[in-house]
Formats: sequence, C-alpha cells, structure tokens
Amino acid sequence: MTDKFNSLRDKTEQALLGGGQKRIDAQHKKGKLTARERLHFLLDEGSFEEIGMLVTHRATDFGLDKEIYPGDGVVTGYGLVNGRLVYVFSQDFTVFGGSLSETHAEKICRIMDLAMKNGAPVIGLNDSGGARIQEGVVSLGGYADIFYRNTIASGVIPQLSAIMGPCAGGAVYSPAITDFILMVENTSYMFVTGPNVVKTVTHEEVTSEELGGAMTHASKSGVTHFACENEIACIQNIRALLSYMPQNCEEEPPFTPYESSNEKRPALNSIIPANPNQPYDIREVIAEVIDTDSFLEVHKHFAENIVVGFARLGGRSIGIVANQPAVLAGVLDIHASTKAARFVRFCDSFNIPLLVFEDVPGFLPGTDQEWNAIITNGAKLLYAFCEATVPRITVITRKAYGGAYDVMNSKHIGADMNYAWPTAEIAVMGAKGAAEIIFKNEIAAAEDPAAKWKEKEAEYTEMFANPYRAAERGYVDEVIEPAQTREKLIRAFSMLQNKADKLPPKKHGNIPL
Ligand code: HXC
Repeated sequence: MTDKFNSLRDKTEQALLGGGQKRIDAQHKKGKLTARERLHFLLDEGSFEEIGMLVTHRATDFGLDKEIYPGDGVVTGYGLVNGRLVYVFSQDFTVFGGSLSETHAEKICRIMDLAMKNGAPVIGLNDSGGARIQEGVVSLGGYADIFYRNTIASGVIPQLSAIMGPCAGGAVYSPAITDFILMVENTSYMFVTGPNVVKTVTHEEVTSEELGGAMTHASKSGVTHFACENEIACIQNIRALLSYMPQNCEEEPPFTPYESSNEKRPALNSIIPANPNQPYDIREVIAEVIDTDSFLEVHKHFAENIVVGFARLGGRSIGIVANQPAVLAGVLDIHASTKAARFVRFCDSFNIPLLVFEDVPGFLPGTDQEWNAIITNGAKLLYAFCEATVPRITVITRKAYGGAYDVMNSKHIGADMNYAWPTAEIAVMGAKGAAEIIFKNEIAAAEDPAAKWKEKEAEYTEMFANPYRAAERGYVDEVIEPAQTREKLIRAFSMLQNKADKLPPKKHGNIPL
C-alpha cells in the first residue's frame, strides 16, 4: 500500500516541477513567474483544484516518447476569485515552451466545457511557443477545437486572456475571440508573424516588443485592453475585472453594498469651462459621479478620444462610455467607434447597465477616415447601442452634434433616460457652420458680411446651442444641475433594475463588421 501512495507522491512531485528546476530558474531569470505561481496569485488561497495533472502527450516522433512531462505543459482546473468560481488554464513554458499539443489542447477544452456547463468564467494565462512543432497537424486541430469553443462560449460566460509570454502565429486567435486581453509589459508579445518573417516579406526591421509588445497592442492596434506593468499587476487586474461581471449571461452582475447619506456632488458644477471650445477631462466627471475610486478603465491607451470602463454607482456595477473632450475634442473616429462598440456589446451580453456621458462635436472628417470606412465602423457603435437591451442612460454634458447625437445612446435608439446639463448644446451642427449655410444669401448681401455672419451665428447659438429644444420634444427627459447627476443616476438605475426588453427572434443580427 505504501508503495502505491509513494508512487502517487512521486508522480505529483514530478508534475509540480513541470519541465524541471533548471527551466523554472530560466523562467524566473526572464522576470516571469511559473504557471503554478501565477495561479497561486490569481486564485483565493487554497481554492485551486487541478484537473488532468497526470495527462501526458501521445506523440512519439522526434524522440517525444522519451521526453514526457505529466501535465503536458498546461495546468488546468478551477478555483475561486473573491469567493466566486472560475475555470483556469495556465500554460507552462518550462515544458516544450508551453507549446500546444493534442493533449494540451484537450485539457483546455475540458475546462472550457465544464465552464460552459456550470456557467462560470474562463481565465487563460498564455505563455506558449505556439503549436507543438513535433506534432504537426494534430496541434493545429487542437487550436481549432479551442477557437470553436471560444466562439460558442462568447456572450455566455466571460472569457479573459492574459498574455504572459510569447503568443504567436494562429495561437493569437484564441485570445482575440475572448472578451478581454491583458498583456505584461516587456515580457509578452503577440503577432501573427514575427520580426524575422516581417523582415523577409516587407524588409522592415522591428523588434518583438515594437511589433507586438504590450504597449504596441494597447496603444496602436487596440488588440489588448490592458498593458500591465508586471505579472502581479496583471493578475490583480484580472481579479478586479471579474468583480464587475456576473458569472454568466443569465446572472446579474454582483452588487457591492454601499452606504451614503448625501449624493450631491457640487464639484461637478464647475468642471465644464465657460468657453465651449475649451477641453476638460471627462474622467473628472466620471470620478465625481461614481462610487469612490471604483472606475476600472478599459482600453486606456487606445482611441483616447473615447473613455470606456467599469464602475460602481450606488453599489451597482455599470459600464461607462464617455466622449473625451480633452483628446481630439471628443470626436468620434474609427477607433473610438470600434472600441466603444465592443465594450457596449460586452456589457449588454452580461447584463451590465450602460451609462453614457456625451460631449461630441461629430464624426472626424477626412480622407483617411472615409477611405478606412468610418461609415462601416461608426455604424458598429450605432448598431451596438441599438441592440443593447440593458438599462441605458445618457447624460449630455455639452456638445451633442449631428449624427453623433443619434449614435451616442440617444432616446431614439433605445436609451431609457436622457439627462442634459444646462451647458448642453444639441443641434445638427456647430453655430458657425450652420449660420454659413442657412444664411448664405443674407451674409453675402450684407454690407459687412463678417459682421452679419457673427450676428447669425449668435442667433443660431441662442436658438439651438442649449438643451431646451430637445427637452421640449422629450428627447431629453430632464435638464439637471450637474451637482444632481449622481443622485439622479442612482435613482434612475434603481428604477430600471427590472427592465425587461427583448430583441425579436432571429438567428443573429448582422453587425456591420
Ligand atoms: C515544441 C518548443 C516550441 C514549439 C519552443 N519550444 N517552442 N517545442 N514546439 N512550438 C521548446 C524549445 O525547443 C525549448 O526546449 C523550450 O521550448 C524553450 O524554448 P527556447 O527557444 O529555448 O526559449 P526562448 O529563447 O525564450 O524562445 C521562445 C520562442 C522560441 C520565441 C517561443 O522557442 C520559438 O520561436 N519557438 C518556435 C515558435 C514557433 O514557430 N511556433 C510555431 C508557430 S506556428 P528545451 O528542451 O530547450 O527547453 C503556430 C501555428 C498555430 O503556432 C496555428 C493555430 C491555428
């Protein structure tokens, strides 16, 4: 009997060592944690239950029959984050560089299947050299099995991907299908083809970090939602993200008990500058309105002309989409539209109410935008808001011009409540341009055309650069003093908490991709 127990102990010990101490040391030398250390920091203490610890690869070619590691390069199982169930896989770079074999893929698929059946998030910690080269097409098949499950699980359970080492070739497409990607600065990279192939094909000289490092994908491509300073920061970010989400699409997001006796926020009254062309930071508005320090910004470095992220309002988890007047005057462009559209769809998938702060002068003009399809891309945001059935509230802080007025969660496309501050300007276009068009003849015939133009501009401003035309029509439900915003929103979201809205039966919509 003792022999049998000892045998189990030996096997377990071997599995816990992955590719061996030498390779663990090499991993540490690169400033990286091992697969198991990452899980230790990710999950509540003592909550991890491993599945498939003794699984080994089946391939025998290229000497693989003599090199066998229990676990086969990925640690899989389940555990708790802040007391809530999650399924996890953590690729072990010390075993064949974390490369994906047939059995490695099967282990990942197994926990994804369990996550779907039991309605809990999947968190993938990626650190892999890609397809297990010795296994060939079997490995490619394994990837496809994962991609398929990622897609079927999309919108059913939250899926989070942390990139903590290499992630190259077709392997990038699993994280790309998941809801959020987090990368670690300086030790992780993602690309479809690496620097060598790039050099051969396009003659560009570029490092891995420049081509596909965390900041590159956080700021240039938008592939990653978070660039984290180090692995611990990345893991903490995952834990924080989960705190805003429900376990699956049939649950409500968690409610954090919150107590406050005074919801007035007088500081909001002095954020908007007297000059409507002067910028201000919308994050100041967000910070004043939400529960203290509860904002978790998503895609912080990408398309900074729009701000999106999670927050809590009176303890309720909400998603915020806000034009950012401090960057490009808050204009909507291709990247801002796609960034916000994806965020809106995530929130709607998982029953997270949406709050929109609107200060938008319109869509960005120019050949670059038109030729790269601002029409199709702007339509994504419009579509995402139109089909969202979660409680939706808009606060127009200043400009709401042109098509962007419609797009930014207007009442017409299904917003439940629409507030405006007295500083709101809701019109087809800015007063200067409007006066030039509609009073063209009068201006041309005037003795002093410039003075006439100014006069007409003032007339248009007086008439339309305010929230009252829209309020008269009911497009704005209430014009409120900024200081009242927080209490109005807490009450309105509470009023909307049982909202039941359904889209007509369909296979799925056809969002303009
Ligand atoms: C098998 C691999 C491997 C792989 C690395 N290793 N990648 N084994 N299959 N894909 C092994 C190495 O042999 C080595 O084994 C150990 O992992 C660590 O690798 P090193 O090269 O020593 O580490 P490092 O210098 O940090 O470089 C890491 C790396 C490099 C950049 C990932 O290993 C690399 O370029 N690997 C090949 C990447 C690749 O071409 N993958 C296939 C991509 S195509 P020992 O025994 O020395 O520890 C693909 C298609 C997916 O993935 C398609 C999906 C649809």
